[in-house]
Amino acid sequence: MNAKEAAARRAVEAVLSGMTVGLGTGSTAVFAIQAIGERIRKEGLVLRGVPTSKRSEDLAREIGIPLVDFSQVETIDITIDGADEVDSELNLIKGGGGALVQEKIVASVSRQLVIICDKSKVKPTLGAFPLPIAIIRFGWQATLRKLNAFGHPIVLRRNADGSPFTSDDGLYIADMHCGQISDPRKRESEIKAITGVAEVGLFVGVATCVIVGYEDGSAESRLKRP
Ligand code: A5P
Repeated sequence: MNAKEAAARRAVEAVLSGMTVGLGTGSTAVFAIQAIGERIRKEGLVLRGVPTSKRSEDLAREIGIPLVDFSQVETIDITIDGADEVDSELNLIKGGGGALVQEKIVASVSRQLVIICDKSKVKPTLGAFPLPIAIIRFGWQATLRKLNAFGHPIVLRRNADGSPFTSDDGLYIADMHCGQISDPRKRESEIKAITGVAEVGLFVGVATCVIVGYEDGSAESRLKRP
């Protein structure tokens, strides 16, 4: 079995009837959305989903998962999402798919944030993966100059045709090549303090559980320390 699918299937076992479920974004989250759809069909599970991107929304609709938005929901019981990097404290880098703002909003009202990944995402320290930073389009060059002051190479994410990549929320994404982030909480607040930055893809102390899947179909859970 695919390692990502193994992690996703284990996470979806925690979904109960009656729950509101945050639906993550990315290739691993796709397996979770499909497994939720399977449980709805086979077990008659009744739940409501809150998608973190247009892609996940479209997939959930296609599969038949009932969806709600924040006009109907205050808290989410469990969100199952992927990550680009996970450290030993369960801090994360997210946003490789550009959905970090919606993912962070959904995570912020979730009682449980379950991260699913394969072992390639688990690192002793965050930062090898370029840190996604969502920035307001207006004045993006000025914002990028301010971000340059961190002293790390930073590039505006672009589409194949060279045009700037735009997130579902109409934001640009800059990727900061940090190398190593020794204090993720400090780095998160320093970057967020910059005018023009909408959000940064550091999720510090937010994940309650990380499930690492393996190709033999097994999965291992790592829980947040109390
Ligand atoms: C989407 O914006 C990201 O945060 C994804 O959750 C992350 O990039 C993981 O994606 P994969 O599961 O495709 O690796």
